[in-house]
Amino acid sequence: MKIDFEKLVDEARRARRNAYVPYSRYAVGAAVLTQSGKIFSGCNIENAAYPSGLCAERVAIFKAVSEGERELIALAVVTSNLGSPCGACRQVFSEFADDDAMIILAPARGSRRKKFSMKQILPDRFGPHHLQ
Ligand code: THU
Repeated sequence: MKIDFEKLVDEARRARRNAYVPYSRYAVGAAVLTQSGKIFSGCNIENAAYPSGLCAERVAIFKAVSEGERELIALAVVTSNLGSPCGACRQVFSEFADDDAMIILAPARGSRRKKFSMKQILPDRFGPHHLQ
């Protein structure tokens, strides 16, 4: 499937507007594209009990999976400064993504982009095959 990365970035930008970040003030938006062509987006949601918050990427991924979508082919992440997904989010994306799934980073404004494959962003990943 030909991936429309700019559409995915737009959806991540839109979701970022809903970021609830009273503590860090660091707003993140994310959007995942499923094999079936659907897009699910999310923002980071912080909490006064700090560890109870969740990253934007995992909100988007869990929305997709909770709607029955388990094959994710691309993830867009939007921050103020091309911030890159944390290790926990890479691992969660990995559970539902092939080696060649794509991660694209974009700023809130502007046309800079960074692109990585799943394999590049989490080499030698731990996965379900280790548990067989
Ligand atoms: N954050 C994300 O949403 N995604 C990441 O991959 C890195 C960090 C959020 C968590 C917290 O709300 C804020 O950014 C600062 O760490």
